[in-house]
Formats: sequence, structure tokens, C-alpha cells
Amino acid sequence: MEYRIGVISGDGIGPEIVAEAKKVLDKIGEKYQHRFHYTEILMGGCSIDAVGVPLTEEAIAAAKASDAVLMGSIGGNTATSPWYKLAPELRPEAGLLKLRKELNLFANLRPAYLYEELKEACPLREDIIGDGFDMMIMRELTGGLYFGERKTEMVDGVMTAVDTLVYNENEIRRIAKRAFDIAKKRRKKVTSVDKANVLDSSRLWRKVVEEVAADYPEVSCEHMLVDNCAMQLVKDPGQFDVILTENMFGDILSDEASMVTGSIGMLSSASLNDTKFGLYEPSGGSAPDIAGLGVANPIATILSAAMMLRFSFDLDKEADAIEAAVKQVLKEGYRTIDIMPRGDLGTGAANASVTQVGTAEMGDLIAERI
Ligand code: IPM
Ligand code: MG
Repeated sequence: MEYRIGVISGDGIGPEIVAEAKKVLDKIGEKYQHRFHYTEILMGGCSIDAVGVPLTEEAIAAAKASDAVLMGSIGGNTATSPWYKLAPELRPEAGLLKLRKELNLFANLRPAYLYEELKEACPLREDIIGDGFDMMIMRELTGGLYFGERKTEMVDGVMTAVDTLVYNENEIRRIAKRAFDIAKKRRKKVTSVDKANVLDSSRLWRKVVEEVAADYPEVSCEHMLVDNCAMQLVKDPGQFDVILTENMFGDILSDEASMVTGSIGMLSSASLNDTKFGLYEPSGGSAPDIAGLGVANPIATILSAAMMLRFSFDLDKEADAIEAAVKQVLKEGYRTIDIMPRGDLGTGAANASVTQVGTAEMGDLIAERI
């Protein structure tokens, strides 16, 4: 089969990690007789530098014309990069938010899974890790605070900023259904996270989730306040199967969940709409501090490519092959610096069973094992 993949390499470590994912995809193509056609799409800081805006209409059209989009990361150092002197709607992140909205990518799936091999990189105590954990964070991606009205203005001589957290019942229902559908194929438990003790939007969230839950008697549903969830993630992460939550809470909790797995460099993600189309990207950022050094972990991007094969192209066998190759390489002891056992961090050489490798070498090792 032939597939058209839009590629947003982006900024910072983006181009380095995307190159490794393409390497692995090409190996899949060779082995399983598929052809992947890549179209580069400009978005983020690189687009600002080239054409003055973070996302052009042509870029949106190119994404829409693709079967799926694979993305690296966008943005720079918010304290030092000139991009952050621009008006908010012209900054790199605005491009990503616009693309999510334009493509109606309301369902963001972020799996957080502890690899047996990475237990030593996990910052939690052994008794908390227990038998490990495997959760799927379902983050609503096109509503809430990210897309509500916002303004900064003088009110009675005092500078005042407003952001609006708005959800309607349809937006809540469609993401809740996705979460329950996914839970049905997993361990059949949804934890819906909100702040219903304070926020109206959360009270509506809880009510609609209850309604959807009634249609899924085989899936258990519990509600958890977001502050408690932040605590439970480091206290007993094994209790979670599917975490369902709104945009901002999901942004924060998914970073936390990723660190609990050892490194944000391991966490893939898929952003889906009502069709087979999806945008696939690592959950981590552009890490400008290590860009160009060849040390970034490409695994989250490679696993995002596997999600693309699975969700957008229905290529389960091929996705399995990528995931197995990643596991194999970890089992053989290869690690990028972010997932080195904590005692060996930064020492380069490390202990006998573990070998530190760079970005391209990690990509080569995974591609070789396919
Ligand atoms: C993410 C990122 C984005 C977000 C930024 C880059 C706008 O943090 O995908 O989690 O907040 O959604
Ligand atoms: Mg984030």
C-alpha cells in the first residue's frame, strides 16, 4: 500500500527525532512492502523564520491532504527566543493549536507505560512501582481554556487578564465515548478527572461522563479531583487504566505521568478526529537546550509512528514490529542519556549491562531489529 505522510519536523530536537522515526518507517516499508511518501510541512518557529507566521493556509491544506501527520516538536526557549517577543497569536505554539482546531483533533491519546527494562530510570520507590503500570491518558484537545475567549485589558486602571474555560455537553460526550471505547479493549476502568468541587465546567463534565458511562456497563467509572489525581499518580500509579480529562488538566497530568515512566522521551501520542486521520507526535517538547547535540531520545517519536500505523493505517502487524524492536533494544541495554539508570546518569560509560547511545544510533538499532 501507499501512504501520504505529512511531516512536521519543527524546532529544537524535532528534526533529529523525526529523522529517526522516518528511518524506522522506511525499514517497515521495505520489509512489509509499503510505500510511505513524505511531504514536509512548515510549522512553529521554523515557519516564523521562513514566512513570518507559525502556520500558513498552505501548511493546513498540506496536512489535510495527507493520510496522517507525523510531528517532531515546535517552540523554543520562552525566556530567550525572539519568537516569544511576537504577539501571542504569532508564536510557535499558536500554530499547533490552530492545526489541532482546524483538523478537529479533539481526542489526544497519551499512553504512559513502564517498561520492565526502565524500572531503574523510574524516579519512584520500588514499593510504589510494584508490578509496574500501564495507563492511557485521554486528553480533550480542542476545547477548554486553550480555546476560550481571552483578553488582557485595563479594568479601573488595573491591568487584568482573562482566560475562559468553556465546554459544551457535545464536546464532553464525544471524548468520553472515545475513552470508554478504549477502556473496553483494556482493563475496563475509566477515571474521569475534574475539579467538580469548584468549577461549573467540571460539574457538567461529571454529569455527561456519568451519562456516557451508563452505556458501558462493562467498564467501571470513577471520578477523581485533579489535585488528588496529581498526588495519586506518584503514590499509586498502578491504579489507573484510562484517565479521561479536559484539555488543561490533561496537559499537566500527562507530563507528570510521563516522568513517572522514567522519561518524557518515551511518551508517544496520537491526536485524532472522527476520521482515520491523526496527528502523531511525542508528548515532550522541543528541548532547545539539547537541540543539535545528537543526544535526544527518538523513542517517543518512533512509538508515535507506530501509533500512526495502528490507528490511521490499520497496520497492526507493522506497529507491533516497531514496538517489539523498541523493547528489544532496551532489553539489550541500549539507552539514550535520559533513560540511563539514575546512578549512571551522565557518566557516559555506565555499568556493564547498559550502553549509552545517541539519537541516530538509537534509531539505527531499532530499525535494524525490524
Ligand atoms: C503539549 C504541549 C502543548 C500544549 C503546547 C506546546 C502548546 O505542551 O502538547 O502538551 O500545551 O498542548
Ligand atoms: Mg504539554
